[in-house]
Amino acid sequence: MPIIQARGIIKEYPYQGDAVHALRGVDLAIDRGEHVAVVGPSGCGKSTLLNVLAGIEPPTRGTVELLGDDVYALDEGRRSALRLRRVGFIFQRFHLLAVLTAAENVELPMAEAGVPARERRDRARELLDYVGLGHRMGHRPPHLSGGEQQRVAIARALANRPEVVFADEPTGELDRRTGDEIIALFERLNADGTTLVIVTHDMHVAQRARRRVEMADGIVVRDHGAPADIASDR
Ligand SMILES: Nc1ncnc2c1ncn2[C@@H]1O[C@H](COP(=O)(O)OP(=O)(O)O)[C@@H](O)[C@H]1O
Ligand SMILES: [Mg+2]
Repeated sequence: MPIIQARGIIKEYPYQGDAVHALRGVDLAIDRGEHVAVVGPSGCGKSTLLNVLAGIEPPTRGTVELLGDDVYALDEGRRSALRLRRVGFIFQRFHLLAVLTAAENVELPMAEAGVPARERRDRARELLDYVGLGHRMGHRPPHLSGGEQQRVAIARALANRPEVVFADEPTGELDRRTGDEIIALFERLNADGTTLVIVTHDMHVAQRARRRVEMADGIVVRDHGAPADIASDR
């Protein structure tokens, strides 16, 4: 059974008395354990789709089942709880808090989820070790390189042991070598059982995903490598 199932997704943004049709009818099912890249030209709706799938942005029409819940039928409290506890999100520009240390940034979602302080500290250390930054626990983001900041952001996204991680152009701000390290980290994460949905311009990143969903102009135009059971479901 898919853990993400989007049906008939349409997203329109009002714009100067008119509407921008960001998504024009997307159906997509993603299974547990998949590693999916969403690709396509700038402006084709990738970020919008990712936000809709992740429970961040309600579609104009259509439904999204995320981890068994009809996510936009939930009230805001339940929806943010789902996002906080079972979903991770990684942004192109990291979105770390500059005044907090790496460890404190990673602890933040755990604090929100009510994890006790001692356990938070231990888990933050474990996660920063996992992403290769155990030696940078006390550093603040302005004193870290782009690649290091993205590792902290990944550790933060993993804080509450999400089942699905969404990433929007996670290597977009990084040079090739640093980007490759981030991809390797994603591969390890997927091998450890986390479902990954990654929006990317970077063919390098896309080639290393097992499935590639290609978008153009607000729709899915090709879908390579979907699991057979999902494909036959359509
Ligand atoms: N908040 C918004 N208001 C108006 N138009 C938007 C908004 N967000 C995105 N769009 C438009 O929707 C389309 C898809 O955008 P986006 O999903 O960001 O594309 P991508 O991530 O593939 O570059 C674009 O035409 C963009 O300008
Ligand atoms: Mg985008």
